[in-house]
Amino acid sequence: MSALLDSLPRYRRMTGQDIETVLAIEESIYPHPWTRGNFSDSLAAGYHCWIVECAGAIAGYTVVAIVAGESHLLNLSVAAPWQRRGIGRQVLAFVVKLARDYAAQRILLEVRPSNAAARGLYAAAGFAEIGVRGGYYPAGDGREDAIVLERVLGRGDS
Ligand SMILES: CC(C)(COP(=O)(O)OP(=O)(O)OC[C@H]1O[C@@H](n2cnc3c(N)ncnc32)[C@H](O)[C@@H]1OP(=O)(O)O)[C@@H](O)C(=O)NCCC(=O)NCCS
Repeated sequence: MSALLDSLPRYRRMTGQDIETVLAIEESIYPHPWTRGNFSDSLAAGYHCWIVECAGAIAGYTVVAIVAGESHLLNLSVAAPWQRRGIGRQVLAFVVKLARDYAAQRILLEVRPSNAAARGLYAAAGFAEIGVRGGYYPAGDGREDAIVLERVLGRGDS
């Protein structure tokens, strides 16, 4: 029984002590990772920064800013060894619940057009494309656009 409980994803708030491990994951899964400053600024700003642990290890994390009824999903990441096991989908559902708990009416996020995995995840969770921010992301020696996605949070949805 305890082995089963150990393997269930567990959510807890991110602290400054997690940044080292989170940064190592970040740098291993993104060609243009967030910096230490991005994470410490997010914590200092009071953004919703959460860790998901599996079997005692950090398997993923998310950073969400919720201001004036609007939720902005700034980071959602799953460590490479834990990808494709449904954790990303579960963390996204956690973010939707969090946004609803804070009375947000919608969730916004940016995604790279080239990020097929993330686009698949968000499309399956009911996010719709509402715009493009030109040259938003660094990419190689140039820039890549961002697709802006939105999910409107109605009453009673999950
Ligand atoms: C995107 C990411 C969060 C997905 O997390 P994950 O735990 O691997 O995803 P899940 O196992 O929950 O998959 C959920 C859905 O996402 C999509 N998906 C996930 N990985 C995919 C891949 N490699 N290729 C295509 N679709 C993929 C699928 O639609 C999948 O549903 P399915 O399994 O029914 O086909 C993860 O790949 C990741 O952290 N990538 C690097 C960081 C990143 O790009 N973050 C998003 C920035 S906007």
